[in-house]
Amino acid sequence: IPPDIQQMLEAHELLRKFYHHLLLNTKDGQHALDYLLTRGFTIESIEKFQIGYSLNSWDFVYKFLAKRKFSAEVMQKAGLIIQSEKDGSFFDRFRNRIMFPIFDQSGKTIAFSGRTLGDDDPKYLNSPETPIFNKSKILYNFHLARPQIKKLHHAVLFEGFADVISGDLAGVENGIATMGTSLTDDHIAALKRNTQSITICYDSDNAGIEAAFRAANLFSDAGCQVKVASMPDGLDPDDYIKQFGPEKFRHEVIEASSTLMTFKLQYFRRGKKLQDEGDRLLYIEEVLTEISRLENAVEKDYYLRQLAEEFSLSLEALKDQEKQINFSDR
Ligand code: GTP
Ligand code: MN
Ligand code: MN
Ligand code: MN
Ligand code: MN
Repeated sequence: IPPDIQQMLEAHELLRKFYHHLLLNTKDGQHALDYLLTRGFTIESIEKFQIGYSLNSWDFVYKFLAKRKFSAEVMQKAGLIIQSEKDGSFFDRFRNRIMFPIFDQSGKTIAFSGRTLGDDDPKYLNSPETPIFNKSKILYNFHLARPQIKKLHHAVLFEGFADVISGDLAGVENGIATMGTSLTDDHIAALKRNTQSITICYDSDNAGIEAAFRAANLFSDAGCQVKVASMPDGLDPDDYIKQFGPEKFRHEVIEASSTLMTFKLQYFRRGKKLQDEGDRLLYIEEVLTEISRLENAVEKDYYLRQLAEEFSLSLEALKDQEKQINFSDR
């Protein structure tokens, strides 16, 4: 390992421990701890996920690391401090935020994501891309979830850190999330080395449902078996668990998740009035296009019959139409 990489890792390790200490044991961190406990986080989950707090200071981290002989160059390259364009001085990237350490597969701290305690923008501030942190490859909680994923032959993909942590507390220990970015081929490849079976459990809002549709297609194209969980409109898994409890979450959301086609049928119905002719024809067209993508002849037949029955159409006409669909790439 090159010396500067080694130092970046050491700096992250030191800060993770210090942020965690500030949250749990200091007066400065009390309001952050109160915030987390009020939200329903437990001390156990704060420990398990090594959550911390960054002080409301412009240069605490800079001084803390400088005192321990880290160079400004290393701190900056590691994304922990930022150099002012005006006067060249250094200031901390993370201030007055709840700190979520990001671990690599082997459990080394390689980045942070800091959540504001108020309504500041951005809500979550991530470390930038650095020599030790590549957002498009890292999955949050993969190091802890991996043994569970292997044991259960199954993974649950959430949208946010809070969902992973709430899910874990609710007994779903095979949960992971992307870093607030969309799913990449690298994420899929990393998961596929451990399981081919995924449940997507994104937020039940427009952004979440669109992202779930996209992610589901990516997994499916990569040869994974994918299911999609759904919740009442507007809720995310963390909200749901708080409102309805862990039991209901496991049984009525995770275990009740839909197959890919059922999810897509619901997805295509969104925002349509099926009693209107135009919407109805559009829906039938979209569903036929999906059916044409199926490789299994029995499945094709099953969904064609279902469609024929629902809209009182002739199966022959639907079959003819389906054959004519010349599907290109999504
Ligand atoms: P809470 O409000 O703490 O419950 O967060 P959430 O996970 O419900 O947030 P949301 O659904 O808005 O976003 C999902 C994920 O996207 C978060 O966990 C973050 O990883 C990421 N994210 C959200 N807001 C931002 C942002 O402003 N900047 C960046 N970089 N990422 C964000
Ligand atoms: Mn601890
Ligand atoms: Mn969201
Ligand atoms: Mn959310
Ligand atoms: Mn949330």
